[in-house]
Amino acid sequence: MARAAGVFLLTAVFTFVHLSPLVLPEGELTFKQWISEHTKIYESVEEYFHRLHVFTENKKIIDLHNAGNHSFTMGLNQFSDMTFEEFRKIYLLTEPQNCSATNGNHVSSPGPYPEFIDWRMKGNFVTPVKNQGHCGSCWTFSTTGCLESVNAIATGKLTPLSEQQLIDCAKDFNNHGCMGGLPSQAFEYIKYNRGLMTEDDYPYKGHDDTCHFKPVLAAAFVKEVVNITSYDEKAMVDAVARLNPVSFAFEVTNDFMHYKEGVYTSSQCKSTADMVNHAVLAVGYGVEEKSRPYWIVKNSWGTTWGIDGYFLIERGKNMCGLAACSSYPLPLV
Ligand SMILES: *[C@@H]1O[C@H](CO)[C@@H](O)[C@H](O)[C@H]1NC(C)=O
Ligand SMILES: *[C@@H]1O[C@H](CO)[C@@H](O)[C@H](O)[C@H]1NC(C)=O
Ligand SMILES: *[C@@H]1O[C@H](CO)[C@@H](O)[C@H](O)[C@H]1NC(C)=O
Repeated sequence: MARAAGVFLLTAVFTFVHLSPLVLPEGELTFKQWISEHTKIYESVEEYFHRLHVFTENKKIIDLHNAGNHSFTMGLNQFSDMTFEEFRKIYLLTEPQNCSATNGNHVSSPGPYPEFIDWRMKGNFVTPVKNQGHCGSCWTFSTTGCLESVNAIATGKLTPLSEQQLIDCAKDFNNHGCMGGLPSQAFEYIKYNRGLMTEDDYPYKGHDDTCHFKPVLAAAFVKEVVNITSYDEKAMVDAVARLNPVSFAFEVTNDFMHYKEGVYTSSQCKSTADMVNHAVLAVGYGVEEKSRPYWIVKNSWGTTWGIDGYFLIERGKNMCGLAACSSYPLPLV
């Protein structure tokens, strides 16, 4: 009798989990579709139901947001079964970074600047969106993205560069591999190290490893690191308009994890240098019809997130501290 009940229970759980999609409640049907779209695998029935719960809570946040009047929409993405706390620990810089430059060395021109700039359209200057995976290495992608573009603009040749070298080798410059770092400090490393290898020669692993830099394979060089004075967002516009894409950091909060499209603005995030937890690359800017200025930004969470891996964020208000620490390198070619 006891054994029969056990078998029944097991069968019931099994059936429930693998139930045909047609008879599932709507929320779970969406979850099942999402699982197959993102090829997720859960180790146990408990894990499955826990993730279903988190997913359902996230879906509520997304639906509520999208029913309101906002400048951006939210959507499901690869992070939809994670709480923000889990997400933060894996993907974001968890320690406050030393990122502010009280007196930057970028020299602005008097302008005027074009209304719209997108370096992706000006030529073959921006590599495809990459994916940092389960590693707090955003700062390495912001760094390579910027140097790739700076080099391509200077030489006409676009070469993907190594994030893994920065993870493994740039620790003497206040960088901490998968635990975080900053583009300005990574540019300093590349300058003093005399070079960064290509993605092909030093491929991405997405975890901390020992340094395998080979000087003969150095492919990109930094002559000088240019920091933009903290909170001088106009100087960022000047640099992006006249010179090249620019690396910057900002504070990611819960609402950003669900970003889908439109111009991101937030009242949740802070705007000071000590709160930034994610580094990205501004590849352009523009102004919305409703006259809201924005930045066009390359992220490193793959192409399924946001607008094919990119996002727009409000410009001109130091939104989420985005003007706290921006920088770019001068190429040595
Ligand atoms: C939505 O918000 C914008 C600006 O915040 C406002 O101008 C507009 O009237 C709002 N639309 C609706 C339908 O509430
Ligand atoms: C900030 O700088 C100090 C002094 O250089 C260093 O000890 C500390 O590790 C840095 N913090 C981070 C998060 O890099
Ligand atoms: C730019 O920032 C880096 C990292 O914070 C710093 O080491 C460097 O001295 C700064 N460069 C200039 C010219 O201020």
